[in-house]
Amino acid sequence: MAQKIIIDTDPGQDDAVAILLALASPEIEVLGVVAVAGNVPLALTEVNARKIVELAGRTDVPVFAGCDRPLARDLVTAEHVHGKTGLDGIDLPAPGLPLQAQHGVEFIIEALRREAAGSVTLVPIGPLTNIAEAFRRAPDIIGRVQRIVLMGGAYFEVGNITPAAEFNIYVDPEAAAEVFASGVPIVMMPLDVTHKALTSRDWVEGMRALPGRCGPAVASWTDFFERYDREKYGSSGAPLHDPCTIAWLIRPDLFHGREINVEVETEGKFTTGMTVADWWRVSGRAPNALFIRDLDRDGMFALLTERLATLP
Ligand code: BDR
Ligand code: CA
Repeated sequence: MAQKIIIDTDPGQDDAVAILLALASPEIEVLGVVAVAGNVPLALTEVNARKIVELAGRTDVPVFAGCDRPLARDLVTAEHVHGKTGLDGIDLPAPGLPLQAQHGVEFIIEALRREAAGSVTLVPIGPLTNIAEAFRRAPDIIGRVQRIVLMGGAYFEVGNITPAAEFNIYVDPEAAAEVFASGVPIVMMPLDVTHKALTSRDWVEGMRALPGRCGPAVASWTDFFERYDREKYGSSGAPLHDPCTIAWLIRPDLFHGREINVEVETEGKFTTGMTVADWWRVSGRAPNALFIRDLDRDGMFALLTERLATLP
C-alpha cells in the first residue's frame, strides 16, 4: 500500500523536484501540498506549489496555504538563492489549479484525524511553522503522525544562512524546537547529507532531453539554483536538498545515519537556529531523530531519472 504523506513546502527549485518525485512515485500517495512562508513570502510559495502540481498533471492533489510568518519572528527570505519568484529558472503560466479555501494548518489537523492513526507521514521541506502550529492547535494529532521526514539543520557542515544555522530551521527556530521535542519519530536530512546530493552536468542534460515538459523544467530550475552554490562553495552541481526526503521514503537503503539527540538553539547570540546534533552521543540526552549523514548519490540520481521520466 502507498505511504500517505503531506508535503509542507516553500517552493523553491529543490522543493519542486521533491514534489515531482513524490507525484511520480507509486509508493507514495500525496494527500495534499501545504505552502508555508520561507524562501519567499506565502503569496508566492502557494502559487509556486500550484504551478508544480499542475506541471505534473496532478490537479487531483489539493494545494493549501498555511502560515504566512514564523511563530515568533519576522520572516527571513532567500531570494538571493531562489530568485525573486522563489522558483526562477523557467516561466510557467499562472496556475489554473485553484488554491483550497481551507487553511493549510486546518487541513493537516483534519487529515491526521481522518486517516488511520500512524498512517500519515509529514514531509516538511521548508520552515516548520505549519507543523508546529498544527501541533499547538490540536495536540491530539501528535500521536497520530507516523513520522516526520524533514529537510533541515546541519552539524558538521554548520550553516548556510548564518555561520551556525541552516535556512529552514533558522527561519522559525521556535517551531523547529517544538517539532523536535514533540516525540514524533523524526528523520532529518541536514546539509551534511544534502550537500552530497549534487546534480551532475550529465544528469541535468538528461533531464533537459526528456520528451515531456517536467524534465526540461527540472533542468532549468537546477541550472538556476546551481549558480548560487557554485559561487558560494565553489562546488559544481546544485544540491538537491529537499528531494532527499522523498528519496528516503522510497529507498531508505540509499541513506545512512544515526539515531541521536538533536536540540534546536533558540536563544543563541550567534547560534540561533543551530541544530545541536549529538552525533558522538556525549550528552546523555535521549535520541529524538535519525540524523542522516551519507547517501548513495548515484543511486538517488538514478531513482530521480527513472521516476521523473514518467511525468508528462
Ligand atoms: C533549504 O532551504 C531552502 O532554500 C531549500 O529549498 C531547502 O529546503 C536548504 O537550506
Ligand atoms: Ca525548501
